[in-house]
Amino acid sequence: MSSNDVTLTTPDHSVSLPLVEGTQGPSCVDVAPLYRETGHFTFDPGFAATAACKSAITFIDGEKGVLLYRGYPIEQLAEKSRFLEVAYLLLEGELPTPAQMHTFEDKVTHHTMMHESVKNFLHGFHYDAHPMAMLCASVASLSAFYHDTNDNADPAQRKLAAIRLIAKMPTLAAAAYRYSIGWPIRYPRNNLEYVDRFLHMMFEVPSEPLELNPVAAKALDLLFILHADHEQNASTSTVRLVGSTGANPYASVAAGIAALWGPAHGGANEAVLKMLTEIGDAKNIGKAVARAKDKNSGFRLMGFGHRVYKNFDPRAKIIRGMAHEVLDELGVDDPLLDIAMKLEEVALKDDYFIEHKLYPNVDFYSGIIYKALKIPTSMFTVMFAIARTAGWISHWIEQHEMPGGRIGRPRQVYVGATPRAFVALDKR
Ligand code: CMC
Repeated sequence: MSSNDVTLTTPDHSVSLPLVEGTQGPSCVDVAPLYRETGHFTFDPGFAATAACKSAITFIDGEKGVLLYRGYPIEQLAEKSRFLEVAYLLLEGELPTPAQMHTFEDKVTHHTMMHESVKNFLHGFHYDAHPMAMLCASVASLSAFYHDTNDNADPAQRKLAAIRLIAKMPTLAAAAYRYSIGWPIRYPRNNLEYVDRFLHMMFEVPSEPLELNPVAAKALDLLFILHADHEQNASTSTVRLVGSTGANPYASVAAGIAALWGPAHGGANEAVLKMLTEIGDAKNIGKAVARAKDKNSGFRLMGFGHRVYKNFDPRAKIIRGMAHEVLDELGVDDPLLDIAMKLEEVALKDDYFIEHKLYPNVDFYSGIIYKALKIPTSMFTVMFAIARTAGWISHWIEQHEMPGGRIGRPRQVYVGATPRAFVALDKR
């Protein structure tokens, strides 16, 4: 037993459990010997106190409101970097040299096209299908197009899948949107940069030229940086759990998209805008806050609270600051921004929100910016998915590179019937 071990004593056993230390953050008790030595499992619904893996990608200190990608503070990346550079950083672990950046950008640009058959696949959807449903299905369908390069054990094939996913996600996302509104699907213009290319595929119409607005592109790029990774959140953990079975990267990321869709996770940005629209006027804020505090109402303030941040979400701080700037520069006067600010002010002074340490999260202001960029509400979570793809696939690769990977397979506290004899149908 090392002096760092933790001793757990039950009425029948005493077991010594080693501590696992990272480079930062709390140490973890390795409970792997627990079942073998005591016959007990641990019980942690929602994994609130459980580290499921080791990772060197992203670090969060939720008490202090710190977020680092590969050691770099999110504030510095937001100010000085751009999304594709951040994607490289997440994937490779280091900031690229100019030559590495050039090669990476070239590769991503080379892989932006989607197979023509994906169009037919999208055409199978009903016209009013939610774009998240179409994105999830079309990303999963990529496994059917690239099964010849799906050897998870080959580092080059893993990297190729990462490039393909980062490159094709905007193409698939824009195609899903355009199909849903009956516009012709656009091919990616590879003379444009990543974000401009996406905006072009979203908004270009055959009947008139599209003037791309640099303010919009810069704002979207910044939002993509802020959403690119967030350590073991629900969707990333889903990607890892699916990945742990040996599933291919496209299927793993499609599972991540499905997990992201829920309103407790990435779906919150869409839900925030709906909530602000329903509040409709600053005079209704008191009622909304009272409802959010009433456990019987089933209503929560969307865009508030976070499992890890018990302080301001650093991403929310950055987005809050940029919301004014972007709306001013685009000449948009959105009353929802005033309602959001008033709501934040009221909630932050309210005893319930103070006691529960509920602060605005990344999704609280992002929808207002997407709206100013003319991104439709149903596409908000899709925007999140485009950005988070860089994180998901970085985690999927890390999981395959790290030795000792095992299938993710939690246990349970069984609360069902104890053994009983089958009763024939005519005797029941
Ligand atoms: N409004 C009102 N009460 C809340 C809220 C909220 N938004 N969030 C948490 N609470 C209360 C909750 O009722 C509980 O109260 P009590 O202890 O008295 O029963 C307490 O705070 C803890 O809540 P929890 O559900 O146990 O906390 P969690 O860590 O499991 O959930 C959360 C975190 C983000 C799911 C939750 O805060 C929430 O539902 N927020 C609204 C949805 C949202 O904005 N999600 C986006 C999260 S950030 C981006 C992302 O992950 O995609």
